[in-house]
Amino acid sequence: MNTLIISSSLAKSSKSFILCQEVHKRLQKLNVKSEIIDVRNFQLNPYHSIQSEELVHLENKISQADNLIIAMGVHNYSINDSLKIILDNCFKNVEGKFFGILCAAGGDKSYLSTMHLTQICMNEWKMIQLPRTVYASYKDFNNNTLKSKEVKDWMMLFCNEFASIGKKLMS
Ligand SMILES: Cc1cc2nc3c(=O)[nH]c(=O)nc-3n(C[C@H](O)[C@H](O)[C@H](O)COP(=O)(O)O)c2cc1C
Repeated sequence: MNTLIISSSLAKSSKSFILCQEVHKRLQKLNVKSEIIDVRNFQLNPYHSIQSEELVHLENKISQADNLIIAMGVHNYSINDSLKIILDNCFKNVEGKFFGILCAAGGDKSYLSTMHLTQICMNEWKMIQLPRTVYASYKDFNNNTLKSKEVKDWMMLFCNEFASIGKKLMS
């Protein structure tokens, strides 16, 4: 199983990127072939402008992946702008794919913001979501390291379930 982890934040010290790294490590231990795509390395142009080669490359990677883990930072109780660009431009061959969500936010009360991503993926491409989301806020990090035991335990469950359901959906 080939899992693509999309880190969609452009922030220099992105917290959702840290979640991606942690999940990547855990998936390796579960023998899942996973790769992180860090969109800070990409030129992201809005829709209706000339598409960068990087985005075409990303679209191909997303198309080829068996399943996806999408990491988002909450912006105004919704997804961030860079993730919207990726969804609009690169999600063409994702019909029915299994996916999971990792979310970083400033506070503890924005957890329903991930529902916007759920709505887009399920309504537009009939994607199937793991019904467990990893959500972390500022208080869960220290010196750009994930510290919260609660989030780490939750993440472990997320990875175990993602790996086992992901494999079953492929057979
Ligand atoms: C424009 C903007 C809007 C934000 N809106 C929210 C919000 O509605 N709720 C919240 O809990 N945090 C909010 N935040 C804080 C971010 O979710 C937080 O910085 C998080 O770490 C972002 O993920 P990232 O570090 O991976 O970019 C906002 C941050 C920015 C820059």
